[in-house]
Amino acid sequence: MFKLRDITKKYKDKTALRGVSLDLAPGIYGLLGPNGAGKSTLMNIITGNIPADNGCVYWEGTEIEKLGKAFRSQIGYAPQQQGLYDSFTGRRFLSYMAALKGIPGKEQKQELRRVLSYVNMEEAADRAIGTYSGGMKQRILIAQAILGSPRLIVLDEPTAGLDPKERVRVREQIKALSGDRIILVSTHVVSDIAPIADRILLIGDGAVIDQGPVEELCEKYDSENLEQVYLHIFGEEERHDPADTL
Ligand SMILES: Nc1ncnc2c1ncn2[C@@H]1O[C@H](COP(=O)(O)OP(=O)(O)O)[C@@H](O)[C@H]1O
Ligand SMILES: [Mg+2]
Repeated sequence: MFKLRDITKKYKDKTALRGVSLDLAPGIYGLLGPNGAGKSTLMNIITGNIPADNGCVYWEGTEIEKLGKAFRSQIGYAPQQQGLYDSFTGRRFLSYMAALKGIPGKEQKQELRRVLSYVNMEEAADRAIGTYSGGMKQRILIAQAILGSPRLIVLDEPTAGLDPKERVRVREQIKALSGDRIILVSTHVVSDIAPIADRILLIGDGAVIDQGPVEELCEKYDSENLEQVYLHIFGEEERHDPADTL
């Protein structure tokens, strides 16, 4: 069980998070909200990449700062940006990440085979990442995030910039990861998360505005689907980028 208590974060005079508290049990969580809502900031704090100004993050009852390496080995994180390591092959990138994660050398080969097969990237594994399509890059990022079978997986906008076929593929791969682990997926595109999330966390202006399973939210906001809930909460003018609906 993962807990956040009253997390706040400011960048200079810009407030990015204003007192976020959450209890996360195993399952798939969709962090849904407009650009600038604070999703990436929240994910960076959850994974221990940036410190919060105030508040605490607990993993099984202990603050994550106190756990240090023991916590880091439990998490897999795919950040929002891509384009790093373009000259590496997929396999070399994964091998580098496996080393960073402390996966023993003798287990590496088999672990790489496992994660590459999971995202259907065996055939492209020995090509440079720079030659990959957006969907392939995203799949390698997911492969990296599941190295060592972490119990907390955080994927920041894993479907950004993908074509519709790639979106469905990545979505199904995330779905297949579920089990006895916590999976957080951020997006500002409702259709990427609605079919697979156990719970939706609606994030706006640095706060969790509401949360629940899709059906519960639809009922509460008297809406036919999650898209309507989103529009009800965030307004028509906050609709996602036209590019994302292509
Ligand atoms: N490194 C930073 N420096 C200054 N402001 C930032 C930084 N990162 C994010 N912000 C601001 O914090 C707010 C939340 O950003 P972010 O967490 O990236 O939102 P989201 O991922 O939901 O789009 C935005 O107003 C953004 O401009
Ligand atoms: Mg973001």
